[in-house]
Amino acid sequence: MTDDRTAALPEVVEGELGVARAAEVIRAGGLVAFPTETVYGLGADATDPAAVARIFAAKGRPADHPLIVHLGDAGLVEAWADVVPPEAHLLADAFWPGPLTLLLWRSPKAPDAVTGGRDTVGLRVPDHPLALRLLEAVGDGVAAPSANRFGKVSPTTAADVVADLGASVDLVLDGGPCLVGVESTIVDLTGEAPVVLRPGGVGLDRLAEVLGREVPVHSGPAPERAARAPGMLAAHYAPTARVVLAEAATAAEVTAALVARGEGRVGLLAPGVTDGLSPEVVELEPAGTPEEYARLLYARLRQADRLHIEWLVCVPPTARGVGVAVRDRLARAAAASQP
Ligand code: TXA
Ligand code: MG
Repeated sequence: MTDDRTAALPEVVEGELGVARAAEVIRAGGLVAFPTETVYGLGADATDPAAVARIFAAKGRPADHPLIVHLGDAGLVEAWADVVPPEAHLLADAFWPGPLTLLLWRSPKAPDAVTGGRDTVGLRVPDHPLALRLLEAVGDGVAAPSANRFGKVSPTTAADVVADLGASVDLVLDGGPCLVGVESTIVDLTGEAPVVLRPGGVGLDRLAEVLGREVPVHSGPAPERAARAPGMLAAHYAPTARVVLAEAATAAEVTAALVARGEGRVGLLAPGVTDGLSPEVVELEPAGTPEEYARLLYARLRQADRLHIEWLVCVPPTARGVGVAVRDRLARAAAASQP
């Protein structure tokens, strides 16, 4: 897609001075892309429906998709949520600041523009020094989805944000590459028992440890899932390349079969080096641990697109810790790649 967005570029700022400018822009109703430990967010004043509306326009995202409200201090939860159950306190104490979003019943403070008209609100205190200083300077909630165009993978660098959003964002606060690399874990605390709506930066094992019980990942039929966490459609996690999943033992075979079909360049993303690859296969640099895989996942998917890879064979990491979230995103990308 070529349009005016690439013609003009947003201002990119860093450090303390950048934080002060970013807070000014947000307080004036503007849009600031800012770093978090998970992915970059596209932020606006969560109390200002007109500012929040600009987020949807910049992303090209349907207006009924709810946004996460980012807070600089867990003490603000009481202002944004109507009911704060004991589990919320346990999880906030254990994981905030950090890659965890709590879904709670909203207070009247949370506008429809943020919640998509729902009675619930997603809240999170991110673990990034610039994000925290920005949120402190703003002094209240900042609504922010990931700072990508609708349908692209989340950005993990300021350059990715600029490439996706161009001048439709007023300011980009550059805090370097994101250290977690996949989005926050979303835990719904509005039902009878806690449920994970999206696996993310906080592993299921750690949630279970803190709550003293297993927390199931919501796995109802797709329409029902979409109703509980809109914006989780498979296509949201897909690069342009078609993603095919394989095991380490079969990766060489699967890539060879795709090369033989002669339908475009074939790439491989795996946690380790794969033996016996045919020379036509573009092997993206491997990331060993699930943590490394998560940190590099979206950058690798974007790199695959830049290299004009048509078929990207992915060997998922082990399902441990954040590896569960990586497997979830890869499965969605693979599902979106089905004709
Ligand atoms: O790590 C993250 O969570 C990043 C950073 C920027 O904080 N944010 C992020 O936002 O991934 P977004 O909008 O791309 O994904 C948020 C997800 C969406 O699937 C949305 O449907 C769900 O959270 N969500 C937010 N508020 C909700 C609500 N009230 N009810 C149901 N789902 C909600
Ligand atoms: Mg997103």
